[in-house]
Amino acid sequence: NYEKLWLIAAMLLIIGFIVTITYGSVGLGIAMIDDSEETIDPNALEDHERFGDLGVHQTGDGEYDVNIRAYQFNFEPGSSALGVHDPIVVPENSEVTLYVTSPDVIHSFSVVGTNANTMVVPGEISVMTVEFNEAREYGILCNEYCGSGHHGMEGVIEVV
Ligand code: CUA
Repeated sequence: NYEKLWLIAAMLLIIGFIVTITYGSVGLGIAMIDDSEETIDPNALEDHERFGDLGVHQTGDGEYDVNIRAYQFNFEPGSSALGVHDPIVVPENSEVTLYVTSPDVIHSFSVVGTNANTMVVPGEISVMTVEFNEAREYGILCNEYCGSGHHGMEGVIEVV
């Protein structure tokens, strides 16, 4: 009976979509974006507990914090632009919380191919948690026009 066959075909299609969506999001890393209430003096980042200590810090089993300064026109760490190669390196199957702030103008921090995408505002701290389950490179981009070097403000996360 054809009606039953169509019903089964439609159900298989739906299951296929669900599997694709689930697999896709696991592979690409899902970000939880959470705006910190904390304010920060953009002119004294080096005196701040977190931003005086830039880079990757292990906080638990498979858990890492990364403290990043986004400035005209680089990410520190992360940058791959203007002759600087300073990738953010984290292990596969890790949960990584990115803390980003700016000492100068508004930027953004976007991990290409994931939903991790946030504005970076001087005086504020942007917080995102991303699960990286696949060993590969992810590009980082600034999506907010921030001046003459905006188009070259990019970087790399290496999941190894
Ligand atoms: Cu920073 Cu555009």
